[in-house]
Amino acid sequence: MTLMRGVLLAALPLALAQVNPPGTPFPNSTYPNSTDPLTDSGAQSGETSPPSYPSPWGEGLGDWEAAYAQAHAFVSQLTLLEKVNLTTGVGWEGEKCVGNNGAIPRLGFKSLCMQDSPLGVRDTDFVSAFPAGVTIAATWDRQLFYQRGYDMGSEHRDKGVDVQLGPVVGPIGRSPEGGRNWEGFSPDPVLSGIAVAQTVKGIQAAGIMSCTKHYIGYEQEHFRQGGPTISDSISSNIDDVTMHELYLWPFADAVRAGTASVMCSYNQINNSYACQNSWTQNYLLKNELGFQGFVMTDWSGQHSGVSSALAGLDMTMPGDIGFDSGTSFWGPNLTIAVLNGTIPQWRLDDMCVRIVAAWYYVDREANQVENAPNFSSWTEDTFGYLHYYASEDYTQINYHVDVRGDHAANIRTQAAKGTVLLKNNGALPLTGKEKLTGVFGSDASENQYGPNGCSDRGCDNGTLAMGWGSGTANFPYLVTPLEAIKAEVLSNGKSIESVIDDYAYAQQNALARRISDVAGACIVFVNADAGEGYIIVDDNEGDRNNLTLWHNGDDLIRNVTSFCNNTIVVMHTVGPVLVDAWYENENVTAIIWAAIPGQESGNAITDILYGKVNPGGKNVFTWGASRGAYGTDLLYEPNNGAGAPQEDFAEGIFIDYRHFDRVGETPIYEFGFGLSYTTFAYSNLQVQTHSAPAYTPTTGQTGSAPVLGSVSNNTADYLLPDDITPLVAYIYPYLNSTSLAASSGDPQYGINYTFPAGAYDSSPQPFLAAGSKVAPGGNQALYDILFTVTATVTNTGGVAGDEVPQLYLSLGGPNDAKVVLRNFDRITIAAGASGTFTADITRRDLSNWDTDAQDW
Ligand SMILES: *[C@@H]1O[C@H](CO)[C@@H](O)[C@H](O)[C@H]1NC(C)=O
Ligand SMILES: *[C@@H]1O[C@H](CO)[C@@H](O)[C@H](O)[C@H]1NC(C)=O
Ligand SMILES: *[C@@H]1O[C@H](CO)[C@@H](O)[C@H](O)[C@H]1NC(C)=O
Ligand SMILES: *[C@@H]1O[C@H](CO)[C@@H](O)[C@H](O)[C@H]1NC(C)=O
Ligand SMILES: *[C@@H]1O[C@H](CO)[C@@H](O)[C@H](O)[C@H]1NC(C)=O
Ligand SMILES: *[C@@H]1O[C@H](CO)[C@@H](O)[C@H](O)[C@H]1NC(C)=O
Ligand SMILES: *[C@@H]1O[C@H](CO)[C@@H](O)[C@H](O)[C@H]1NC(C)=O
Ligand SMILES: *[C@@H]1O[C@H](CO)[C@@H](O)[C@H](O)[C@H]1NC(C)=O
Ligand SMILES: *[C@@H]1O[C@H](CO)[C@@H](O)[C@H](O)[C@H]1NC(C)=O
Ligand SMILES: *[C@@H]1O[C@H](CO)[C@@H](O)[C@H](O)[C@H]1NC(C)=O
Ligand SMILES: *[C@@H]1O[C@H](CO)[C@@H](O)[C@H](O)[C@H]1NC(C)=O
Ligand SMILES: *[C@@H]1O[C@H](CO)[C@@H](O)[C@H](O)[C@H]1NC(C)=O
Repeated sequence: MTLMRGVLLAALPLALAQVNPPGTPFPNSTYPNSTDPLTDSGAQSGETSPPSYPSPWGEGLGDWEAAYAQAHAFVSQLTLLEKVNLTTGVGWEGEKCVGNNGAIPRLGFKSLCMQDSPLGVRDTDFVSAFPAGVTIAATWDRQLFYQRGYDMGSEHRDKGVDVQLGPVVGPIGRSPEGGRNWEGFSPDPVLSGIAVAQTVKGIQAAGIMSCTKHYIGYEQEHFRQGGPTISDSISSNIDDVTMHELYLWPFADAVRAGTASVMCSYNQINNSYACQNSWTQNYLLKNELGFQGFVMTDWSGQHSGVSSALAGLDMTMPGDIGFDSGTSFWGPNLTIAVLNGTIPQWRLDDMCVRIVAAWYYVDREANQVENAPNFSSWTEDTFGYLHYYASEDYTQINYHVDVRGDHAANIRTQAAKGTVLLKNNGALPLTGKEKLTGVFGSDASENQYGPNGCSDRGCDNGTLAMGWGSGTANFPYLVTPLEAIKAEVLSNGKSIESVIDDYAYAQQNALARRISDVAGACIVFVNADAGEGYIIVDDNEGDRNNLTLWHNGDDLIRNVTSFCNNTIVVMHTVGPVLVDAWYENENVTAIIWAAIPGQESGNAITDILYGKVNPGGKNVFTWGASRGAYGTDLLYEPNNGAGAPQEDFAEGIFIDYRHFDRVGETPIYEFGFGLSYTTFAYSNLQVQTHSAPAYTPTTGQTGSAPVLGSVSNNTADYLLPDDITPLVAYIYPYLNSTSLAASSGDPQYGINYTFPAGAYDSSPQPFLAAGSKVAPGGNQALYDILFTVTATVTNTGGVAGDEVPQLYLSLGGPNDAKVVLRNFDRITIAAGASGTFTADITRRDLSNWDTDAQDW
């Protein structure tokens, strides 16, 4: 690992021109001063980014070609109302999924079911609770990334879901306190990028659509939707270099992997809402990255009708302005806006083509199940209302289909392989012959309310196997550490006792002393939780308030270690915590980060503790000695009066280990670190040069925007049909009068806003230099392989084990991080045997973003 760092710097000819530092102004933008690239490297308050119009129409690039041909044929048959139905959700709790769009009954095209979450099927029964994103990332195993994606996708498919609302690469984890970091993978963009691409491919191979989210700069829960005295969402102010080299990077991998949809986020970017930001949606996502699928809002993330459409939004969820307001920015307003010419028909056609093409792209047609969706998100009762909010159509709504297959074994493996051994003074693996084993802490045991006893996992009772919020699923069962360890101890005929009350110090001390006396093992379980901002747990509004352990974990550890000379600490945490108070304590003989493991928690940790699985997981973030060590932090208090809070990403690309390296801060446990029960030696490092063709900026032009079918201008054609009795608060595409203004009901209807003229331009548009006319993912030459690095890795210990060689590069410029991760592999090697590490280095891996040239 560290060996690879120094050597490659010398080995590679890095003759790359230096380009703009992070913080370089956008061309021609009103960008405030930034003079010191170290203290002021990123974007600044009030940052704006340039407008970009028209919204690029999908052209069926790369392997999307066939799906686009089918989508064009389908959409060409649709009426205006049917098209609007595709784009607009029917409203909160209008149908059975967390989101549903309108159907096209005439052609038998069913409403699409959008369902959380990134770690399983939310809000239903008989599903698996998979390890969280941060856990699977810690396996550093491409096959497991894919396997988990495929298994999750299969469960969604078998419940009748069309779009799984995951995976997550936003937040990426700018600050460790971020409430939803654990839903995603890692603050490193390359690790996140490889993980998201494999997850997308896995999910979609199961025949459903993935939704990569949240796009973009969504790095904290506070102010994500404003606040009690603040009407606008927080603005993440991000400069162009930082955007490309950090936040956009994993999204590029998701787009290249074919993600069917992308969810725009709640926050603003450079003072423009994510779901109507023409720079992020039109320019970056659809033009530069060549995204061919559709952009869907986060729930209530839409803030305008016409502007969002022109800025590249394709679907609004759950469709209503406020939950069950009965009004929509789209629905009737979209019908009206096309009829009054404010939104060009080709833009609506493009929304529909993107949605339908994504449906074909993953072969939804061949992956339908009976009674789909065979569950209701709103109740687990077998019978109930099909339209929950309106209380209409009482029927069977839950079929209780068990979709778990044999995923439990995979989940156990994934969780064990995502476990990181941080310290080991020879205490581990346990032999099972310990005369007395003690298990300490509430994190070892059951939640007294049951594993699903707190709605959306909004509490920290019992062992922590999932954070809280919408990124959750119901546990089918939760194997606790205590029960699994007890089963192991009993199978060896030994003794085990536990104290699960975190504050029962007298009992902890007494048990610890007895264990120490007979040379047994004290295993202490502690945790730290986080989640989504709509639930507050122990005063944490989603984001963590601090980086210390919960339930006074430090006190628990101190009490046990005071008397037990063989204390093994196991941490279930959403991210790094402060371990400085005890990690060097001589009585702490081993430390394990067991991540956020999912339903097989106890089995997975027992596999590691007793050496049935040799730990091979590696840190996916840095463990710093203090909160301040991270350099970045969240904004907890408004900083702009009643205006949108301004969060300047002034650190640029320097988050997590890049920051530690830059300021010379020594971490306690570094990014990429993790021990094994064996040892490895590296040798024979070789760098092979490939002769790739030179990089050429993309040139040429798109075709003109396709217009599919025609739209009558007779408003009477769009009235609610007589045979439909509208459901309460349900969003339809219809007008309620022949007057467009009256049907809209918008008090500002017809006010002559000046929309950017370019938004209406349907003529052929130039490709961007960094874009592609061949395939999604940007200029394809970025993915040319320039070097291949190989090394021999030898298992020099006594047991088989997994090693994760990691390739770090220094790009070498004054504004670059000291080193950046660029590739890795997880290799299983028998004792005494050797394996070969092979890592390609692409042109993108060696490139910086040039703001002036708008190219790599
Ligand atoms: C920036 O300004 C230059 C010179 O004033 C002009 O030629 C160019 O078109 C402008 N670029 C943009 C993106 O507005
Ligand atoms: C930019 O520089 C000017 C002149 O030095 C100064 O008055 C102004 O406050 C600076 N603006 C910001 C946002 O730092
Ligand atoms: C629009 O969708 C709703 C809900 O699925 C459906 O009732 C209605 O018939 C659809 N309208 C058209 C024109 O297809
Ligand atoms: C149309 O949108 C406006 C907000 O722009 C909203 O006030 C109005 O209620 C909407 N109309 C319908 C029919 O939903
Ligand atoms: C067109 O319709 C939209 C949606 O109702 C409305 O917001 C806008 O003000 C209308 N514009 C004109 C010029 O009539
Ligand atoms: C419908 O008529 C209006 C007013 O004449 C015009 O601006 C608009 O472009 C027409 N829409 C279509 C789809 O033809
Ligand atoms: C269980 O969770 C509830 C809700 O967060 C909390 O009030 C309570 O203190 C917890 N109980 C224990 C024993 O942790
Ligand atoms: C702990 O103390 C016991 C009793 O003195 C001793 O037998 C044992 O070897 C010690 N264990 C460690 C890990 O130091
Ligand atoms: C940190 O937050 C946790 C969870 O709310 C709390 O239990 C703990 O007391 C806090 N730590 C400090 C030092 O305030
Ligand atoms: C156990 O923890 C409590 C609470 O912090 C503390 O008062 C007590 O001194 C500790 N006992 C030992 C032996 O460390
Ligand atoms: C370690 O444990 C022993 C008991 O085996 C105890 O005497 C000693 O004080 C402990 N050390 C620390 C640093 O707590
Ligand atoms: C039609 O819908 C608009 C927007 O919701 C509303 O303001 C208006 O009162 C409705 N008109 C009728 C006749 O129901």
